[in-house]
Amino acid sequence: METKTQRGGLQGLIKNGLRSTKLLEWLRPASGVRWDRERLHQLIQSRLDGRKFIVVSNREPFIHRRDKSGVIQCIRPASGMATALHPIMMASGGTWVAHGAGDADREVVDAQDCVMVPPEAPGYKLRRVWVDPELEKGFYYGLSNEGLWPLCHITFTRPEFRPKDWQAYKEANRLFAEAVLEETQGERALVFIQDYHFCLLPRMLREMGGGRIICAQFWHIPWPNREVFRAFPWGEELLDGLLGNDLLGFHIHYHCQNFLDTVDRSLEARVDTDRSEIARRGHLTRVRPFPISIDFEADSLLAQSAEVQAAMERWFQRLPGLRGRKIGASIERLDYSKGIPQRIHGLEHFFEQHPEWIGKLCFVQIAVPSRDHLASYKAEQEAVDEAVDRVNDRFGTPEWQPVCLLKEHHGPVDMMALHRLADFFMVNSLHDGMNLVAKEFVASRGDERGVLILSHFTGASRELSQAVGVNPYAVEQISAAVSTALTMSPARQQRRMRLMREQVAHQNVYRWAGRLLTAMLRIEHLDDLEEENVPEETFADAA
Ligand code: F6P
Repeated sequence: METKTQRGGLQGLIKNGLRSTKLLEWLRPASGVRWDRERLHQLIQSRLDGRKFIVVSNREPFIHRRDKSGVIQCIRPASGMATALHPIMMASGGTWVAHGAGDADREVVDAQDCVMVPPEAPGYKLRRVWVDPELEKGFYYGLSNEGLWPLCHITFTRPEFRPKDWQAYKEANRLFAEAVLEETQGERALVFIQDYHFCLLPRMLREMGGGRIICAQFWHIPWPNREVFRAFPWGEELLDGLLGNDLLGFHIHYHCQNFLDTVDRSLEARVDTDRSEIARRGHLTRVRPFPISIDFEADSLLAQSAEVQAAMERWFQRLPGLRGRKIGASIERLDYSKGIPQRIHGLEHFFEQHPEWIGKLCFVQIAVPSRDHLASYKAEQEAVDEAVDRVNDRFGTPEWQPVCLLKEHHGPVDMMALHRLADFFMVNSLHDGMNLVAKEFVASRGDERGVLILSHFTGASRELSQAVGVNPYAVEQISAAVSTALTMSPARQQRRMRLMREQVAHQNVYRWAGRLLTAMLRIEHLDDLEEENVPEETFADAA
């Protein structure tokens, strides 16, 4: 229910010069409007009206680590989520609450556990939460990554559900709730929670006194169908936690439907599928699709920079075999959901079917080690090594290796340079909520060249329909896609790339954030707007 203060906020806005027509303009869906950094900035400046803006995630956007010589380095982790949220935080100047996981993180924070980031041009506050190793084992490695990750991704990796991990998960959610409430200090705030690490946090915030908070959560991974979710032993508690949100976002409509259906069959709640809303315990949760994206303009500009040009040359020095050959590439965390062994197997099939390409194609695979304490990830590393060794032994020559496997973190400039060098780029995830690397590849190709091979089982495939689509489980489809990519005429590449670039430029990260924020603000102002007899379709959420 709307409070007096909330109403005052709206009236304050109007008093401050934002007439109600202007307000409606802001709240109207932005489909016809161009979203960019400036527009998001304006929205935040004019509409936050003194509310705090707080993002919560497990992975922090900047990690402080000591390098081999003992010097503290600040690095950006390999996380699409962190990359997407950074520009929004720069525009809002808010607070980002995250797990301080770096070995030098404690050395750079102030007495409140905060540090301004990015170090070179501080734009927002990072509040670090300390999760001790035992708790991290149960909360992050256990319940989040051995339980919920395989449950939601459906890659046929069996999830593990240990009661002690569930306890740790609850405890960690409580730690984060305390940190968020310390940051809001009872004031009006928009709290924007990320991902599957914090299913219980929204309900906890409500119960622990966060009455003046508008709470939204974005689920960065897929939401499975009801049958799959049934396997989760504490399903009711988890769903009830999520229904503490005012707004719950998924990448695509299909995941929203799965969620509504899951709740409908698991909990006592009123599920309105037409309006995509769930009422439970007197509280309403709106469930909406918000396809996440990238900062297209910034990525396009970076791709054209002298820095990236120089990095392209460095790739040839580092891997001399690339010169004079066709280049294929993939970049991702080393995760079983990404389908790396399947891809290498597909390449093996390609060389079998097309021996004329032996010696003429180099495939660069960047696989950043991730969650490597877990047995399933260790097994995946072994599977990748084994597949790469097999293909290189089988087809390689003393001067040429078909696959170059690089298991290390690369900065944005080096990754962009590899995008630009690639004749084709492969994303064949077995399942992926969105996949932002596919969009980054498209943004990097201002030359309108290069072919994207994209799994049907990524959220991105709904938007990038000009990619060459593959079923990642079908080795012959991967092999055929490589052949299609290598023989596609420049004119066809251009037509496809141009359409994909238009799509990503339009559906950029500012639109994602703008629509989410607009939806959050609308929740707070709904009663005022109804007084003005605004037709409901004015706020239709489809972009
Ligand atoms: O996008 C899903 C996600 O789990 C993010 O939450 C996360 O930052 C990213 O993948 C990388 O995973 P992790 O943070 O576990 O290394």
